Amino acid sequence: MRGINRLGFLFLFVALVILLIFTYLFGFKHGHGNQDNQGTRYVIGVSQSNLTEPWRVQMNEEIKKEAQKHKDLQVIYTDAAQSNEKQKKDINRLLGYGINLLIVSTNDTNSLTPLIAKVHKKIPVIVLGRAIDGYDYYTLFIGPDNQAIGRNAGQLVSDMLGGKQGNIVEIQGPEGSSPVRERSQGFKEVIQKHPNLHLYNTIVANWQKDEAEDKVTALLQRNPQINTIFAQSDAMALGAYKALQKHDIQGVKVIGVDGLEGTNGGLDLVKKGVLAGTFAYKTGGKESIQYAMDILKGKSNIPKKIILRVSTITHENVDQYVLNKSSYPKQIKSKKHIVLGFVQVGAESSWRLANTASIKKAAQDYGIDLKFKNANESIKAQISIIRKFIKQKVDVIAFSPIVQTGYEPILKEAKDAGIPVVLVDRDLDLKDNDLWLTSIGSDFEEEGKRAARWLLDATKGIKNNINIVELEGTTNSSPTVYRKKGFEEELPKNSNKYHVIASKSANFTKEEGKTVTTEFLRKFGDKINVVFAHNDDMALGAIEAIEAFGKKPGKDIKVISVDATQVALNNVYAGKLNVTVECNPLLGPYMMRAIINHFHGKELPVKIITEEGIFTVEDDRSVFFNRPY
Ligand code: AHR
Repeated sequence: MRGINRLGFLFLFVALVILLIFTYLFGFKHGHGNQDNQGTRYVIGVSQSNLTEPWRVQMNEEIKKEAQKHKDLQVIYTDAAQSNEKQKKDINRLLGYGINLLIVSTNDTNSLTPLIAKVHKKIPVIVLGRAIDGYDYYTLFIGPDNQAIGRNAGQLVSDMLGGKQGNIVEIQGPEGSSPVRERSQGFKEVIQKHPNLHLYNTIVANWQKDEAEDKVTALLQRNPQINTIFAQSDAMALGAYKALQKHDIQGVKVIGVDGLEGTNGGLDLVKKGVLAGTFAYKTGGKESIQYAMDILKGKSNIPKKIILRVSTITHENVDQYVLNKSSYPKQIKSKKHIVLGFVQVGAESSWRLANTASIKKAAQDYGIDLKFKNANESIKAQISIIRKFIKQKVDVIAFSPIVQTGYEPILKEAKDAGIPVVLVDRDLDLKDNDLWLTSIGSDFEEEGKRAARWLLDATKGIKNNINIVELEGTTNSSPTVYRKKGFEEELPKNSNKYHVIASKSANFTKEEGKTVTTEFLRKFGDKINVVFAHNDDMALGAIEAIEAFGKKPGKDIKVISVDATQVALNNVYAGKLNVTVECNPLLGPYMMRAIINHFHGKELPVKIITEEGIFTVEDDRSVFFNRPY
């Protein structure tokens, strides 16, 4: 008996030790917050697409520098050397090491998206630099707005030529890569608006200096009459400049993108007069670690996208930029007591009421002294309230611009008075985006796209025409412009099936939504298959109009909307509204945190985009209740 007991004890002891080792390893591997004996609590994998581009070397350096601030963090780096297949293997290898979070800067976004989506089901994923379409495949995107870079480049070319004839060569990175496509789109958008600007040729140089030099040399042998080169990176711009030098060609303006520091970095090249301009933006390396740690520590209100500031650098401002390392306005004094003047759009919708409540509550929670005013949908009133805040010398002004234009003079007044401005919910369409600190809100274009994607899916099997009527929000407001753009762009081009047969503003209100839908029904009657409303309130008006017309909303006529308020979800539950795309009104905490960060000397990104979902009749209905708004 005694022998058996001793053996039993031994067995138990060994089992216990194995169990302890297993728990320890498993806990460490899956990020249960356990520390190993080197003090590591979190392991982050960084999958870099290549380390031949200087911009990517800098990105990794920023990651390393920021990671060193966390004693409990270990970072494992991989380099895919520009190969999609290698990057897939790298990511799988990192998963095998038991990373708690993946930071990935993709080689070719399309080819890597399925794997990233799979990884995202297991651990958080931060996509760095190159965006992925949609919201469902990653936790957070950090990077610049590449279309805006292209637009700014087009604008700089136009400003430099000042109305003179422009014969332009564009030098692109590899075909199929998202920044290449987006920069080119933005560039052409501006060029096409100026009849004096002509795109003479496009060269693909795969981000490589030498390839750009060789291809521009070959082009110059044909003796083209070009006067401007826009290269999508500074390295390629330098290659183009060298080719011009070889041919002893003077006077061609060369513009690049990246604006890195150091010898032959974009800033140095502008200083030396090699480049006429570049577009500087952060790599996002530092921010990726900051957000990764927030995610790993379970912090709330993590955004969906962080859009990094892009600064136009020319000979005029390069010294100033190098000195400050940024074009972001420096916050000299750190402030404890902050007075915030906020002007709301109005009270046109349930969304707006929830937004107002969130801002008031967050100001209290974060100890910010809030002066809240309502413009009651008058642009004039909004501007005059901002002017009063300037006179009162508040510390910061925030507002949701009713429309996209017309605020330039008042923003200049605020800038001259040294008062920073934050945009909340809606955006502005102004040339000078240094007039505000940051903008916090939704991706309205993505909301429109999501609405269209749902429709395409729901009508896949239908052969007949699908006739859509559109209830637009306030004319020239950013949600109206971008929801419309996103929705219409997502419908198949030259489609014989999907037709937007009428589109009219109903100002985001239920009453007007009902009136305009009634007009549409009288005019088109049975022809209407779908109502796309830019917000829930207008959709609720449309539902009443459809019922009054003797038809069944949600069945005879599909109704699609944006916002996802509780009252809209009740209608989804009742089958009268088919889908509502979420637009998050709870912007108060994001806004207060950004303001506090600014007054603590942190540089804010140019845009902070919130996380949002979509609610359809097909969903599990338990998610429809106890909504926070
Ligand atoms: O700017 C956000 C939009 O404004 C909301 O979608 C709409 O309901 C609101 O009034």
